[in-house]
Amino acid sequence: MPQEMTSIEKIIVLDFGNPYNQEITRGIRELNVFSELHPHTMTAEEIQAEGNVIGIIMSGGPFTVYEDIQEYDSKILELGIPVLGIGRGMQVMINELGATVTPAGYQYEPTDSQLTFHNVSEGIFKGAPASRTVPLGFDAKVSKLPDGFSVLASGEEVSSGDDRPFGATENPERSLYGVQFVMEIEKNDADRQILENFVLGVCDASQNWTMKNYLSIAVHQLKAQIGDQKVLLGLSGGVDSSVVGVLLQRTLGDQLTCIFVDNGLLRKGEGEDVMNILGEEFGLNIVYADAADRFLDKLAGIDDPEEKRKIIGNEFIYVFDDEAAKLEHVKFLAQGTLYSDVMESGTSTSEVVKSHHNVGGLPEDLDFELVEPLRLLFKDEVRQLGLEMGLPDEIVWRQPFPGPGLGIRVLGEVTREKLHILREADAVLRRVVAENGLQREIWQYFAVLPGIRSVGTTDGRTYDYTIGIRAVNSVDGMTSEFARIPYEVLNEISQAITEEVAHVNRVVYDITAKPPSTIEWE
Ligand code: XMP
Repeated sequence: MPQEMTSIEKIIVLDFGNPYNQEITRGIRELNVFSELHPHTMTAEEIQAEGNVIGIIMSGGPFTVYEDIQEYDSKILELGIPVLGIGRGMQVMINELGATVTPAGYQYEPTDSQLTFHNVSEGIFKGAPASRTVPLGFDAKVSKLPDGFSVLASGEEVSSGDDRPFGATENPERSLYGVQFVMEIEKNDADRQILENFVLGVCDASQNWTMKNYLSIAVHQLKAQIGDQKVLLGLSGGVDSSVVGVLLQRTLGDQLTCIFVDNGLLRKGEGEDVMNILGEEFGLNIVYADAADRFLDKLAGIDDPEEKRKIIGNEFIYVFDDEAAKLEHVKFLAQGTLYSDVMESGTSTSEVVKSHHNVGGLPEDLDFELVEPLRLLFKDEVRQLGLEMGLPDEIVWRQPFPGPGLGIRVLGEVTREKLHILREADAVLRRVVAENGLQREIWQYFAVLPGIRSVGTTDGRTYDYTIGIRAVNSVDGMTSEFARIPYEVLNEISQAITEEVAHVNRVVYDITAKPPSTIEWE
């Protein structure tokens, strides 16, 4: 079993600002090959110092080869490591090697071009379609390739019929490859095939990036980092903190203490599940901080969503601090930071994408050293690691749940009565979804209590609450569509909620996409 990351082969994606870079990095990982995104200014020396780099991808970005951003260390082309240039990454690469690249007007947005691929029986396009339409940027015109390079694809722009003579190129002796179009790994099987040909064929990766291997590396590294010191973890019951908890428990046993804050805004059964599964079954040492009254008292009379978020976020920190202060000699604080969080805070190239939500997070000035064992992993890898350690599906595939919990699903002022109604309705929704086998089909689903009351009839006139059902499909929560739950299941949900939950006489289904709405109602 490997014990160091240096025994794992790596492909480096140089970040020239292309929004597809995360997809490319993730697509490589899906081939069981480790990949990391680095600023485009990473030098040949730095790449060599990594010791285990078997391939480099120079992925384009919103610039032309004439702008400063191309300033990268061209010596990386001399390292003898295979390079794939994508989009303007290809232009930058061949420009450096002596191609004739001239301005062709500024056309940042790629346009559809019909390309014919000259060899799909071997090499980088093996198994890909011989002809297809691709998004191709044409702000720079390649009129002559460098010596040793040959044309692998050519064609024309669809709308104008203009020539696109150098759609792709290669210099197999030097293992340098370029495609001038945008590769959309998640959407397009042909692009995925090209990436696979590069990674497994050209770079000859041995595919040693597995979660079984990572587990043994992580255990080894955590032991070295922590020794016999004590570690503290804020456990939420979500997949990330649960995986961190189980990993640390395996590695360090009772050196780990977890704090679970019950803020009174959890779903039905959530606290018990955490204590039963993680506490009893996995043996985590968990301090259960029952702080419901503290949170609900602070929320009394508050109806502004952002103010509620702030109160809940701050109170979480106070409760956590209070509990942590009761523990002695804790040196480390563990956190479930993921690779996507690391990338979102930006390499020096990419625009800094603002962290979306940070409610429920801890302040940076806590007096601990940080332990972040998921820092190298994407979310799907965290799930794999969880499965590798035997975590049950209900934790590994747990749907996202916001830090402020039901506090932002009871609209307006949060009262105990409303929380109770919502919690019951949400539990019924979850049960019916599970009975119909749809838990894994829907990305996120929950009930909301808008606070409106309407007239109904059950053994006479009623004047009771409405429950809203929100169920969406999404990749990352940034955009979403409402889930196409079958009418029969919606009917079952509505019947079960109105029959089983007191003071609810109406159920509505939210059919709005994000944008224009958000997933949560507050
Ligand atoms: P929105 O409502 O912004 O939600 O479309 C996108 C995703 O983020 C979750 N969400 C939150 N998560 N603290 C969190 O930890 C929050 O304040 C928060 N607000 C929304 C939401 O559940 C969805 O998955």
